[in-house]
This record gives sequence, C-alpha cells and structure tokens, in this order.
Amino acid sequence: MKRVQDHYGIKAKKMGYPARSIFKLQEIMEKFPLVPKNAKILDVGAAPGSFSMYLLERLKGHGSVVAVDLAKTVEVPKKYTNFTYICGDIYDEQIQSKLLELGPYDVVISDAAPATTGQKELDALKSISLAEAVLFVAEKTLKTNGNFMVKVFQGAGEAEYLNMVRRQFQKVKGFKPQASRKESFETFFIGLGFNKI
Ligand SMILES: C[S@@+](CC[C@H](N)C(=O)[O-])C[C@H]1O[C@@H](n2cnc3c(N)ncnc32)[C@H](O)[C@@H]1O
Repeated sequence: MKRVQDHYGIKAKKMGYPARSIFKLQEIMEKFPLVPKNAKILDVGAAPGSFSMYLLERLKGHGSVVAVDLAKTVEVPKKYTNFTYICGDIYDEQIQSKLLELGPYDVVISDAAPATTGQKELDALKSISLAEAVLFVAEKTLKTNGNFMVKVFQGAGEAEYLNMVRRQFQKVKGFKPQASRKESFETFFIGLGFNKI
C-alpha cells in the first residue's frame, strides 16, 4: 500500500532528498553531538539515501560516508566522491568484513528496518535482531569514543537491547523525533563515547 505523503515527505522531495527520514536525522543531530567534524561514518540501511546525502552535505567534503543496504543502488548524487556504497546484507559475514576493511569509523548509524508483517510483537523482534547485527558491526568497526545511533521498533526485546547498548557506551539516550510518523512504533537509541575493549 502506497503511503500518502505528509508535509515532511513533500518538503524532502522539494529539497532534493529521496526520503522524509532526513528530518529525523536532522532533529537527532540538533539534539545530540552525534557527528564530529571530518567524521568517517558508516550508514547501515541507507537506501534510498537521504541520511547519507544529509551527512555528506554536513561534512562539506571532509570526512566520508560508507553506506550499506539490501537495495541495488541509492540516490546519492555522483558529485560526492567521499561516498562509498555497498549493496549487501548486514547479517552477511563477507559484507561485515568489507565494512571492517573500510573502517574504522567515528560514527555508526542505522535506520535499517526489517520487512514488516503487521504483527507488532513479531516486527519488534525482527527490528531488535537487525539492531543487534548493527551493534555487532559497530563493536568491531567503531573507534574508541565513537558514536552510535540505531532505530528500533518498540516492543519485545527493546529493554534488553537498550541494556546491551548501555554496556558499550558512556552515555545512552532514547529519542523519538517529531518527524517520526505518529502511528509508528519506531524510536532511536543514541550511544555516545564507545568503550572500546
Ligand atoms: C527506512 S529505510 C532507510 C532510509 C534511509 N535512512 C534514508 O534516509 O534514505 C530502511 C532500509 O533498511 C534496509 N535494510 C533492511 N534490512 C537490511 C539488512 N539486513 N541489511 C542491510 N539493509 C537492510 C532496507 O533495505 C531499507 O532500505
């Protein structure tokens, strides 16, 4: 079923972004010091590419973005030479090794979302599983004191997952942006200051 575009969707298209999600990241970055200057960033679940485009604009040619998604391509303009796209599954060990080779990163972010079934608890579990895979990759690829942001669907497994993130980062906050759809169960966890062992 095709969703009706709300004002965020219309505004995103007008500004040249492929998805309305850009406004979620913008809010998060206004509230938290997630992305330092000249950062090297890993963007998981990056298609169609709004987060990556927004980050590349903010980096102003310094730093870089590596993005991964199941989708064949992203709509990030070719002018960004500090952008690398990898088509693949974050659960796939070969993809994880490739991301490791391209790192280490100052920031790992994920807006990845599983295909949903409409069953809230099942969808929440699928989202937590995906978020665990992202955390696993972040643990291997983040620099000491690096930052992390991940989207999860609220429900089963959320509290346990939050505890896992708390063990890895000095400061951890949950945040639901205004730009998240009202009917959505999504929320974001932000981890600042990775405790690399
Ligand atoms: C909400 S969209 C991301 C939107 C993106 N942040 C943007 O700003 O354009 C969620 C994405 O997660 C991706 N995804 C879901 N499961 C994945 C997996 N196992 N590995 C990689 N990407 C995945 C989907 O293909 C989808 O493109």
